[in-house]
Amino acid sequence: MAIPLVLDCDPGHDDAMALLLAIADPAVELLAVTTVAGNQTVDKCTVNARRVLSLAGVTDVPVARGADRPLVRRLRIADDVHGQTGLDGPLFDTEPTVPESPSAAQDVLIDVLQKHSTPVTIVATGALTNIARLLASEPALTPKIAEIVWMGGSTDRGNIAPLAEANAYVDPEAADQVVRSGVPFTMCGLNVTHQALVTDDVLARFERIGTPLARICVEWMTFFASTYRQLWGFEAPPLHDPVAVARVIDPAIVRCVEANVVVEAKGEWTSGATAVDLFNYTGRAPNAQVAVELDREAFWTRIVDAVTALG
Ligand code: BDR
Ligand code: CA
Repeated sequence: MAIPLVLDCDPGHDDAMALLLAIADPAVELLAVTTVAGNQTVDKCTVNARRVLSLAGVTDVPVARGADRPLVRRLRIADDVHGQTGLDGPLFDTEPTVPESPSAAQDVLIDVLQKHSTPVTIVATGALTNIARLLASEPALTPKIAEIVWMGGSTDRGNIAPLAEANAYVDPEAADQVVRSGVPFTMCGLNVTHQALVTDDVLARFERIGTPLARICVEWMTFFASTYRQLWGFEAPPLHDPVAVARVIDPAIVRCVEANVVVEAKGEWTSGATAVDLFNYTGRAPNAQVAVELDREAFWTRIVDAVTALG
Protein backbone atom coordinates (compact mmCIF):
# COMPACT_ATOMS: atom_id res chain seq x y z
CA MET A 1 0.00 0.00 0.00
CA ALA A 2 1.36 3.40 -0.98
CA ILE A 3 1.99 5.80 1.90
CA PRO A 4 -0.49 8.73 1.79
CA LEU A 5 1.37 12.01 1.63
CA VAL A 6 0.88 15.77 1.56
CA LEU A 7 3.76 17.92 0.35
CA ASP A 8 3.97 21.40 1.88
CA CYS A 9 6.53 23.34 -0.14
CA ASP A 10 7.92 26.62 -1.51
CA PRO A 11 9.09 25.74 -5.06
CA GLY A 12 12.03 26.37 -5.53
CA HIS A 13 14.24 24.15 -7.69
CA ASP A 14 14.77 21.38 -5.16
CA ASP A 15 11.09 21.54 -4.13
CA ALA A 16 10.20 21.00 -7.81
CA MET A 17 12.30 17.84 -7.90
CA ALA A 18 10.76 16.72 -4.58
CA LEU A 19 7.32 17.17 -6.15
CA LEU A 20 8.24 15.04 -9.16
CA LEU A 21 9.53 12.30 -6.86
CA ALA A 22 6.36 12.39 -4.75
CA ILE A 23 4.17 12.34 -7.86
CA ALA A 24 5.82 9.42 -9.59
CA ASP A 25 7.29 7.07 -6.99
CA PRO A 26 4.92 4.14 -6.44
CA ALA A 27 5.75 3.92 -2.71
CA VAL A 28 3.81 7.11 -1.96
CA GLU A 29 0.44 8.55 -2.93
CA LEU A 30 0.43 12.35 -3.22
CA LEU A 31 -2.93 13.59 -1.89
CA ALA A 32 -2.37 17.35 -1.94
CA VAL A 33 0.22 20.05 -2.41
CA THR A 34 0.21 23.10 -0.15
CA THR A 35 2.42 26.12 -0.60
CA VAL A 36 4.13 28.49 1.79
CA ALA A 37 6.12 31.69 1.37
CA GLY A 38 9.86 31.13 1.58
CA ASN A 39 12.05 30.77 -1.47
CA GLN A 40 9.77 33.35 -3.09
CA THR A 41 6.42 34.96 -2.34
CA VAL A 42 3.59 32.51 -1.86
CA ASP A 43 2.06 33.79 -5.12
CA LYS A 44 5.13 32.74 -7.08
CA CYS A 45 5.60 29.48 -5.16
CA THR A 46 1.98 28.55 -5.90
CA VAL A 47 2.37 29.23 -9.63
CA ASN A 48 5.54 27.12 -9.55
CA ALA A 49 3.80 24.20 -7.82
CA ARG A 50 1.04 24.38 -10.43
CA ARG A 51 3.74 24.48 -13.12
CA VAL A 52 5.39 21.30 -11.85
CA LEU A 53 2.12 19.39 -11.65
CA SER A 54 1.18 20.62 -15.14
CA LEU A 55 4.49 19.44 -16.57
CA ALA A 56 3.97 16.06 -14.90
CA GLY A 57 0.43 15.78 -16.26
CA VAL A 58 -1.14 15.59 -12.80
CA THR A 59 -4.71 16.89 -12.74
CA ASP A 60 -6.24 15.21 -9.69
CA VAL A 61 -4.10 16.62 -6.87
CA PRO A 62 -5.15 19.98 -5.35
CA VAL A 63 -2.56 22.77 -5.18
CA ALA A 64 -3.57 25.07 -2.32
CA ARG A 65 -2.05 28.37 -1.32
CA GLY A 66 -0.82 28.69 2.25
CA ALA A 67 0.75 31.33 4.45
CA ASP A 68 2.07 34.46 2.75
CA ARG A 69 4.42 35.27 5.66
CA PRO A 70 5.94 33.70 8.75
CA LEU A 71 4.00 33.58 12.03
CA VAL A 72 5.52 36.72 13.51
CA ARG A 73 8.43 37.85 11.33
CA ARG A 74 8.83 39.61 8.03
CA LEU A 75 9.32 37.30 5.08
CA ARG A 76 12.84 36.87 3.75
CA ILE A 77 12.84 35.35 0.27
CA ALA A 78 15.76 33.52 -1.39
CA ASP A 79 15.74 35.13 -4.84
CA ASP A 80 19.55 35.04 -4.76
CA VAL A 81 19.33 31.23 -4.82
CA HIS A 82 16.15 30.57 -6.82
CA GLY A 83 15.84 33.69 -9.01
CA GLN A 84 13.05 36.18 -9.71
CA THR A 85 10.41 33.54 -10.40
CA GLY A 86 11.57 31.19 -7.64
CA LEU A 87 12.12 28.61 -10.36
CA ASP A 88 14.42 30.36 -12.81
CA GLY A 89 16.06 28.53 -15.70
CA PRO A 90 13.76 27.26 -18.45
CA LEU A 91 11.38 29.85 -19.88
CA PHE A 92 7.70 29.07 -20.27
CA ASP A 93 5.46 31.09 -22.56
CA THR A 94 2.15 29.79 -21.23
CA GLU A 95 0.49 29.67 -17.82
CA PRO A 96 0.40 26.31 -16.04
CA THR A 97 -2.75 24.39 -16.89
CA VAL A 98 -3.32 22.99 -13.38
CA PRO A 99 -5.51 25.51 -11.52
CA GLU A 100 -5.05 26.74 -7.98
CA SER A 101 -7.44 25.11 -5.52
CA PRO A 102 -10.31 27.40 -4.48
CA SER A 103 -9.64 26.27 -0.90
CA ALA A 104 -6.82 27.59 1.24
CA ALA A 105 -4.00 25.30 2.32
CA GLN A 106 -5.34 25.06 5.89
CA ASP A 107 -8.73 23.87 4.66
CA VAL A 108 -7.18 21.37 2.27
CA LEU A 109 -4.91 19.99 5.01
CA ILE A 110 -7.85 19.65 7.40
CA ASP A 111 -10.00 18.02 4.73
CA VAL A 112 -7.32 15.51 3.74
CA LEU A 113 -6.59 14.55 7.35
CA GLN A 114 -10.28 14.22 8.24
CA LYS A 115 -11.26 12.22 5.20
CA HIS A 116 -8.34 9.87 4.71
CA SER A 117 -8.96 6.48 6.25
CA THR A 118 -5.42 6.15 7.63
CA PRO A 119 -2.96 8.68 9.12
CA VAL A 120 -1.25 10.85 6.51
CA THR A 121 2.44 11.78 6.33
CA ILE A 122 3.24 15.46 5.90
CA VAL A 123 6.50 16.23 4.09
CA ALA A 124 7.46 19.88 4.55
CA THR A 125 10.19 21.38 2.38
CA GLY A 126 9.85 25.02 3.37
CA ALA A 127 9.22 27.10 6.46
CA LEU A 128 6.87 25.32 8.88
CA THR A 129 4.31 28.16 9.03
CA ASN A 130 1.37 26.19 7.59
CA ILE A 131 2.08 23.18 9.76
CA ALA A 132 2.42 25.20 12.98
CA ARG A 133 -0.90 26.88 12.23
CA LEU A 134 -2.54 23.54 11.54
CA LEU A 135 -1.31 22.00 14.80
CA ALA A 136 -2.40 25.07 16.77
CA SER A 137 -5.87 25.29 15.26
CA GLU A 138 -6.71 21.58 14.96
CA PRO A 139 -5.11 19.69 17.86
CA ALA A 140 -7.76 16.97 17.58
CA LEU A 141 -6.39 16.09 14.15
CA THR A 142 -2.85 15.32 15.28
CA PRO A 143 -3.53 11.55 15.57
CA LYS A 144 -4.36 11.70 11.85
CA ILE A 145 -0.79 12.81 11.08
CA ALA A 146 1.44 9.74 10.75
CA GLU A 147 4.57 11.90 10.92
CA ILE A 148 6.05 15.19 9.80
CA VAL A 149 9.21 14.84 7.73
CA TRP A 150 10.94 18.17 7.28
CA MET A 151 13.79 19.36 5.10
CA GLY A 152 15.24 21.96 7.40
CA GLY A 153 17.73 22.64 10.13
CA SER A 154 21.22 21.24 10.42
CA THR A 155 23.29 19.30 12.92
CA ASP A 156 26.16 21.65 12.15
CA ARG A 157 26.31 25.04 10.49
CA GLY A 158 23.79 27.05 8.47
CA ASN A 159 23.31 28.35 4.94
CA ILE A 160 21.58 31.70 5.53
CA ALA A 161 23.22 32.66 8.82
CA PRO A 162 26.24 31.12 10.52
CA LEU A 163 24.10 28.67 12.50
CA ALA A 164 20.75 28.70 10.70
CA GLU A 165 19.43 26.76 7.73
CA ALA A 166 17.02 28.76 5.51
CA ASN A 167 13.72 26.95 6.23
CA ALA A 168 14.37 27.22 9.98
CA TYR A 169 15.54 30.82 9.70
CA VAL A 170 12.48 32.05 7.76
CA ASP A 171 10.07 31.01 10.52
CA PRO A 172 11.85 29.81 13.68
CA GLU A 173 8.74 30.31 15.84
CA ALA A 174 6.82 27.90 13.61
CA ALA A 175 9.65 25.36 13.57
CA ASP A 176 9.91 25.56 17.36
CA GLN A 177 6.17 24.90 17.77
CA VAL A 178 6.20 21.94 15.39
CA VAL A 179 9.26 20.32 16.96
CA ARG A 180 7.68 20.64 20.40
CA SER A 181 4.24 19.41 19.30
CA GLY A 182 4.77 15.75 20.11
CA VAL A 183 3.79 14.71 16.57
CA PRO A 184 6.40 12.21 15.27
CA PHE A 185 9.02 14.40 13.60
CA THR A 186 11.95 13.71 11.30
CA MET A 187 14.51 16.37 10.44
CA CYS A 188 16.51 16.10 7.21
CA GLY A 189 19.00 18.92 7.68
CA LEU A 190 21.88 20.32 5.69
CA ASN A 191 24.27 17.77 7.17
CA VAL A 192 22.47 15.07 5.14
CA THR A 193 21.20 17.10 2.16
CA HIS A 194 24.76 18.19 1.43
CA GLN A 195 25.34 14.52 0.58
CA ALA A 196 22.79 14.86 -2.27
CA LEU A 197 25.06 16.71 -4.69
CA VAL A 198 24.04 17.07 -8.33
CA THR A 199 27.38 16.03 -9.76
CA ASP A 200 28.09 15.86 -13.50
CA ASP A 201 27.42 12.11 -13.37
CA VAL A 202 24.00 12.73 -11.89
CA LEU A 203 23.20 15.41 -14.46
CA ALA A 204 24.24 13.03 -17.25
CA ARG A 205 21.74 10.45 -15.96
CA PHE A 206 18.93 13.00 -16.34
CA GLU A 207 20.21 14.01 -19.79
CA ARG A 208 20.09 10.38 -20.90
CA ILE A 209 16.36 10.14 -20.05
CA GLY A 210 15.81 12.29 -23.13
CA THR A 211 12.26 13.51 -22.47
CA PRO A 212 11.15 17.18 -22.44
CA LEU A 213 10.51 16.91 -18.69
CA ALA A 214 14.00 15.54 -18.06
CA ARG A 215 15.45 18.42 -20.10
CA ILE A 216 13.58 20.89 -17.89
CA CYS A 217 14.96 19.13 -14.81
CA VAL A 218 18.48 19.51 -16.24
CA GLU A 219 17.85 23.22 -16.82
CA TRP A 220 16.50 23.69 -13.28
CA MET A 221 19.48 21.90 -11.75
CA THR A 222 21.90 23.82 -13.99
CA PHE A 223 20.45 27.13 -12.80
CA PHE A 224 20.62 25.90 -9.18
CA ALA A 225 24.25 24.88 -9.76
CA SER A 226 25.08 28.37 -10.99
CA THR A 227 23.76 30.11 -7.86
CA TYR A 228 25.37 27.57 -5.54
CA ARG A 229 28.68 28.09 -7.31
CA GLN A 230 28.37 31.85 -7.15
CA LEU A 231 27.12 32.16 -3.55
CA TRP A 232 28.93 29.33 -1.78
CA GLY A 233 31.56 28.04 -4.20
CA PHE A 234 29.94 24.59 -4.44
CA GLU A 235 31.19 22.53 -7.39
CA ALA A 236 27.83 20.72 -7.44
CA PRO A 237 24.62 21.92 -5.77
CA PRO A 238 22.87 20.01 -2.99
CA LEU A 239 19.34 18.92 -3.96
CA HIS A 240 17.92 19.28 -0.44
CA ASP A 241 14.19 18.74 -0.59
CA PRO A 242 13.84 15.33 -2.29
CA VAL A 243 15.81 13.86 0.63
CA ALA A 244 12.73 14.29 2.86
CA VAL A 245 10.49 12.56 0.30
CA ALA A 246 13.05 9.77 -0.14
CA ARG A 247 13.03 9.17 3.62
CA VAL A 248 9.30 8.40 3.40
CA ILE A 249 9.62 6.31 0.24
CA ASP A 250 12.28 4.07 1.75
CA PRO A 251 13.63 4.85 5.24
CA ALA A 252 16.79 2.89 4.43
CA ILE A 253 17.81 5.62 1.95
CA VAL A 254 18.15 8.18 4.75
CA ARG A 255 19.64 6.81 7.98
CA CYS A 256 18.44 8.62 11.07
CA VAL A 257 19.31 8.68 14.74
CA GLU A 258 17.06 9.72 17.63
CA ALA A 259 17.90 13.01 19.31
CA ASN A 260 16.41 15.99 21.06
CA VAL A 261 16.01 19.01 18.79
CA VAL A 262 15.12 22.55 19.77
CA VAL A 263 14.91 25.58 17.50
CA GLU A 264 16.42 28.86 18.64
CA ALA A 265 13.87 31.61 18.13
CA LYS A 266 15.27 34.26 20.45
CA GLY A 267 19.02 34.38 19.99
CA GLU A 268 20.55 37.65 18.83
CA TRP A 269 23.04 35.86 16.56
CA THR A 270 21.56 32.38 16.43
CA SER A 271 17.92 32.83 15.44
CA GLY A 272 16.83 29.78 13.44
CA ALA A 273 19.62 27.56 14.72
CA THR A 274 18.61 23.95 15.37
CA ALA A 275 20.30 22.63 18.52
CA VAL A 276 20.50 18.90 17.88
CA ASP A 277 21.63 17.04 20.98
CA LEU A 278 23.30 14.09 19.27
CA PHE A 279 25.27 13.13 22.39
CA ASN A 280 22.52 13.77 24.96
CA TYR A 281 24.39 16.54 26.74
CA THR A 282 21.13 18.01 27.99
CA GLY A 283 19.45 14.85 29.23
CA ARG A 284 16.30 15.91 27.36
CA ALA A 285 14.34 13.04 25.85
CA PRO A 286 14.65 12.52 22.08
CA ASN A 287 11.82 14.23 20.18
CA ALA A 288 12.99 13.65 16.61
CA GLN A 289 14.54 11.31 14.13
CA VAL A 290 17.54 13.20 12.79
CA ALA A 291 18.89 12.27 9.36
CA VAL A 292 22.62 11.66 9.29
CA GLU A 293 23.49 9.58 6.22
CA LEU A 294 22.25 9.32 2.63
CA ASP A 295 22.45 6.26 0.40
CA ARG A 296 23.36 8.34 -2.65
CA GLU A 297 22.96 5.63 -5.26
CA ALA A 298 19.51 4.57 -4.05
CA PHE A 299 18.48 8.24 -3.76
CA TRP A 300 19.43 9.22 -7.30
CA THR A 301 18.04 6.01 -8.76
CA ARG A 302 14.63 6.75 -7.20
CA ILE A 303 14.58 10.28 -8.66
CA VAL A 304 15.82 9.26 -12.11
CA ASP A 305 13.22 6.48 -12.16
CA ALA A 306 10.51 8.94 -11.14
CA VAL A 307 11.32 11.42 -13.89
CA THR A 308 11.64 8.56 -16.42
CA ALA A 309 8.24 7.18 -15.41
CA LEU A 310 6.59 10.54 -16.04
CA GLY A 311 7.52 10.23 -19.71
C1 BDR B 1 16.12 24.85 1.80
O1 BDR B 1 15.97 26.23 1.50
C2 BDR B 1 15.44 26.40 0.21
O2 BDR B 1 16.21 27.30 -0.54
C3 BDR B 1 15.42 25.06 -0.44
O3 BDR B 1 14.27 24.90 -1.25
C4 BDR B 1 15.43 24.07 0.70
O4 BDR B 1 14.13 23.74 1.12
C5 BDR B 1 17.60 24.54 1.95
O5 BDR B 1 18.15 25.28 3.00
CA1 CA C 1 12.21 24.30 -0.21
